[in-house]
Amino acid sequence: MVFTLSVVTGCFAVENSGTNLTLSMEIGNPVMTVNGTQSEIDPGRGTAPVIQNGRTLVPIRAIVEAMGGTVNWDGETQTALLEYNGDAITLTIGSKTAYLNENENTLDTAPAVINGRTMLPIRFIAESFGFDVEWDDDTKTITISGQTVSADTPATVQEENSDTGENSDESANVLVVYYSATGNTEEAANKIASAVNGDIFEIEPAEPYTSNDLNWNDENSRVVYEYENPDERDVELVSTAVPDWESYDTVFIGYPIWWGIAAWPVSSFVEANDFTGKTVIPFCTSSSSGIGESGTLLEETAGTGNWIDGMRFGSRVSEDDISTWVNSVLENTEDTDSLEN
Ligand SMILES: Cc1cc2nc3c(=O)[nH]c(=O)nc-3n(C[C@H](O)[C@H](O)[C@H](O)COP(=O)(O)O)c2cc1C
Repeated sequence: MVFTLSVVTGCFAVENSGTNLTLSMEIGNPVMTVNGTQSEIDPGRGTAPVIQNGRTLVPIRAIVEAMGGTVNWDGETQTALLEYNGDAITLTIGSKTAYLNENENTLDTAPAVINGRTMLPIRFIAESFGFDVEWDDDTKTITISGQTVSADTPATVQEENSDTGENSDESANVLVVYYSATGNTEEAANKIASAVNGDIFEIEPAEPYTSNDLNWNDENSRVVYEYENPDERDVELVSTAVPDWESYDTVFIGYPIWWGIAAWPVSSFVEANDFTGKTVIPFCTSSSSGIGESGTLLEETAGTGNWIDGMRFGSRVSEDDISTWVNSVLENTEDTDSLEN
């Protein structure tokens, strides 16, 4: 999926009529405060702002979205397109040249990939979008303040961009869905999401499995009962609805192996969702079993989607193993253009 990095001019700028924004974050701290409420700067990945050559670099998406803007990524050119209130900034990994609309700017520090995450210069971005930026050297805190645009502004911008074939959600087109009872698959899922800069959705049973529930040596345990009674495997989930499900065209789906197949909470998720138009890539963790038929069985349950052969990892999986596999699997799928680092 390719989007055009057209430089958007201010022709559809709208008036600033929104609410006040105060956003602060500290070097080395993955949590930011937005109008008094704390949230992760890079949800699920623990990425924190860093200083390089005296400039603060941050994973930008959540920050720009807090402002009411959008972020798109072109993996081919390694360029991020940030849009807010009719202004567009383009930044390229490793390049000190940045554009605000058609105006060229020289940055002190080039955008960089650090630990697999795209890190962008926050001061340049925030000031270009009209926010004030303050730096407190004692606490190593950066504070961004100003008035955000009204809530309908991003929609206005998106509509105007439709001529270019751009879709502001396109950069977030990889989703990693997983179920994990004891954390192994979760670890693999986080590493995959980090490698592809995908979003994450955790499948959570409405009634979580306790360690007693999972004791397969106890013939009276929940999991043994469900194993022996396939009709009882229809596990109710906290939610099967992934925000912006339509926007994803590649879905990694991960689970532990239970008795040679996918842990059943995953089946409940698969059954509830429509995978039409999506490439689906299963992965699993297990003590020793292979992935076996688990992916094929899920594909049958789904009845939709382009399911490809999946991968089994051991209970502990290294980042190298993940990135080697992710790269090879994505090379075999067509839509890699909008993956972020
Ligand atoms: C109920 C149950 C059944 C399991 N069955 C198998 C199995 O058939 N083969 C295997 O290699 N591992 C099996 N395991 C081990 C898990 O697949 C393995 O520990 C996995 O990494 C757990 O992932 P999680 O921490 O994400 O839940 C089983 C574990 C449980 C709890």
